[in-house]
Amino acid sequence: MSSGSDPITVLVVGSGGREHALALAIDQDPAVAAVHVAPGNPGTASFATNHRVDILDGTAVAALAAELGVDLVVIGPEAPLVAGVADAVRGRGIACFGPSAAAARLEGSKAFAKRVMADAGVPTARSRVATAPAQAAAALDEFGAPYVVKADGLAAGKGVVVTDDRRTALDHAAECGRVVIEEYLDGPEASLFVITDGTTAVPLPPAQDFKRVGDGDEGPNTGGMGSYTPLPWLPAGTVEQVMAEVVEPTLARMRTLGTPFAGLLYVGLALTEAGPRVVEFNARFGDPETEAILPRLRTGLGALLHAAATGALADRGAPEVSDEACVGVVLAARGYPGSPVKGCVIGLPPAPDGVHVIHAGTALDDRGRLVSAGGRVLVVVATGADIADARERAYAHIARIDFTDGFARSDIASQARLDAIAARLG
Ligand code: AMP
Ligand code: GLY
Repeated sequence: MSSGSDPITVLVVGSGGREHALALAIDQDPAVAAVHVAPGNPGTASFATNHRVDILDGTAVAALAAELGVDLVVIGPEAPLVAGVADAVRGRGIACFGPSAAAARLEGSKAFAKRVMADAGVPTARSRVATAPAQAAAALDEFGAPYVVKADGLAAGKGVVVTDDRRTALDHAAECGRVVIEEYLDGPEASLFVITDGTTAVPLPPAQDFKRVGDGDEGPNTGGMGSYTPLPWLPAGTVEQVMAEVVEPTLARMRTLGTPFAGLLYVGLALTEAGPRVVEFNARFGDPETEAILPRLRTGLGALLHAAATGALADRGAPEVSDEACVGVVLAARGYPGSPVKGCVIGLPPAPDGVHVIHAGTALDDRGRLVSAGGRVLVVVATGADIADARERAYAHIARIDFTDGFARSDIASQARLDAIAARLG
């Protein structure tokens, strides 16, 4: 929105930590008058208005947006995007930040994403699509170990198996039916978020998340146990290189296909010896990277997303970002990522300046007490002059939170981890 126009009202769709972080940043934008969240969580209820709705029902979401008279709908999670909820909202004449169902296939089908990357000449792992055991076996043998087997469709973070064991790889392929089998990419991972209206694209500062449940990257994959930004080890020029070699050609290819991608293109990268390679595309903000990135944004998020949703990104400059560092540490419930224990009463002390607590899986019990209600329960986010400072403040606040059944990794953004990555990159 250009300066001088009336403040806008925004509806954020989703209920996790990402949506809490998005709603919070949008609420802090002076160009935004009010924020609604559907369905939201106890964290969003403290500053926005929560509404009950089935977020996979496009008609219902569009009707709610119309009833509230919002100027912009922001869709957080991938499932409603793949289900076409953004199309339904736009169909009612309401601006929506989030790709169409056709464009969200960049996340919804790994095989589709691979085809787009191949056609656009985007650097990524070589891959084969397999639908039968013999095809899967041939592809595994073509690329060798470590084996990477990905379910084609949405799998809520559980679709990818990386293993040295051929049997495990074959079993995963058989279980999923249709899979993408690809070459293993060796190198540290980074997440680059790009806001685009389909033509103009602007990057946010890169972040890294920690996918494994345990310290030292031990144990099973999770939705993400923490994140930090900036990435001091990232070679200079990487963002520009990825914009030129990955983002621009992908967006051009999507326009050619007649399904322009407008929304948030999440580029998951491996920094290999041969250069950055795409590990995956997602069609929405990543979680928990969003929680760490948004506090650094100095440009108003509501107006920025509104511009992207209305094809007006070219009229704006690149988003301004602070030099500060930000670290987010997830407090998960015992048992996560298997079967998390729920219903544990949580005591949240007031957070000091520069620290905030994002709700990812909380609820209020029948006595109005805050309780755990998911696997990832809270994300404690702190900004600081540098990563060490931000990290110390995040962990200091975690120590003050009363959550008996909660646990966090102790090595999110630790100096030892950063040094190890820098050493690996030489
Ligand atoms: P994805 O859902 O595609 O992001 O995969 C989940 C995780 O699996 C990634 O964050 C990587 O850690 C790992 N992974 C996926 N593809 C590859 C690959 N080709 N080589 C190595 N690791 C991979
Ligand atoms: N942080 C990984 C994801 O959002 O998919």
